Amino acid sequence: MQKINIYKIFPSGIFAMIIVLFIFTCSAAPQQTNYKSFYPGQIWLDTNGKPINAHGGGILYYDSVYYWFGEHKIAGPAGNKAMVGVHVYSSSDLFNWEDMGIALPISDDSTNDIAKGCVLERPKVIYNKMTGKFIMWFHLELKSQGYASARTCVAVSDSPAGPYKYLYSFRPDAGEWPINVTEEDKIAAKDNYLERDFEGGQMSRDMTLYVDSDGEAYHIYTSEENRTTHISQLTSDYLKPGGKYMRVFINRNMEAPAVFKHDDKYYYIGSGTTGWDPNAARSASAPSIWGPWKELGNPCVGDDSALTFHSQSTFILKVPGKENAYIFMADRWKPQNPIDGRYIWLPIQFNDGKLVIEWKDEWDLGWFDGLK
Ligand code: GAL
Repeated sequence: MQKINIYKIFPSGIFAMIIVLFIFTCSAAPQQTNYKSFYPGQIWLDTNGKPINAHGGGILYYDSVYYWFGEHKIAGPAGNKAMVGVHVYSSSDLFNWEDMGIALPISDDSTNDIAKGCVLERPKVIYNKMTGKFIMWFHLELKSQGYASARTCVAVSDSPAGPYKYLYSFRPDAGEWPINVTEEDKIAAKDNYLERDFEGGQMSRDMTLYVDSDGEAYHIYTSEENRTTHISQLTSDYLKPGGKYMRVFINRNMEAPAVFKHDDKYYYIGSGTTGWDPNAARSASAPSIWGPWKELGNPCVGDDSALTFHSQSTFILKVPGKENAYIFMADRWKPQNPIDGRYIWLPIQFNDGKLVIEWKDEWDLGWFDGLK
């Protein structure tokens, strides 16, 4: 067979130019994104064609716009530490997200609480109608201290996408006993972390914020060496704990909390404590935020439900303007390459007072219209 000599057809200079142009076009042109569905677990591109980078996130809905805040991760194991800050994206339809930049950058000053290399996890933002401020809380581990500091951190902004101003970090509820404390809880004993941390403040790791329909806000955090969850009411400006808190799921080792209210009933979804490895989700419901909380088991059903579809809860979004529409948001962590962590968003169903979450490869908000 006769070989075609491509250099005879295109002189070598032109040939090289075509190759270079081809490579340039492939790498420079953003991939077009115009999503009309969610694709749980798939790479999710922003409107610039770059993978969304907002892990352990939460959503603020303000003035008909959704703001997705999350941990900005970088490639490689170093990405498990905060190297950039809290990333924010905005959207009007929940499918297509515009990059709004870094809402709260970490600090280059190594003495700052949020110094580059600290652990900054699960940022959540709420809006305070009384002050008109946007308030961000997140879990903070001071640089080079592993997960020992177990602090919470607050930042504030005048506009939803920021920039946020760092205020302070602390351990919540110092010098306060929870409303359901027992006399025994107040006595020093081995493994009595509540008493151990009474003076200095309670440990606060995985966390969420919840604003109730009456405007009261709550900080829900994993405490006492990850054994027990605390629900702590915030001051009316949402900037500090107000001093009233309660221990829930005592010694149940639950984390990754997410809370919502449906039909006047409060619901919780969380996980067990196995670090970056997935485990079976937990759920619970209560007639009041102050309980009594009744555990309802793993809401996930079907294949891989025992591992929450290889993910861990981070937030539950009530879709405005739709009835019975709640989205379970979770992270599929990649601790070896955290930037490649994926987002699992799935619809929540209610069955006989329990929550049910089923895997879907693809779905859209129309799915909720089929619910009774
Ligand atoms: C998970 C937790 C994450 C992160 C991780 C570190 O259990 O939910 O937010 O703290 O542990 O191992």
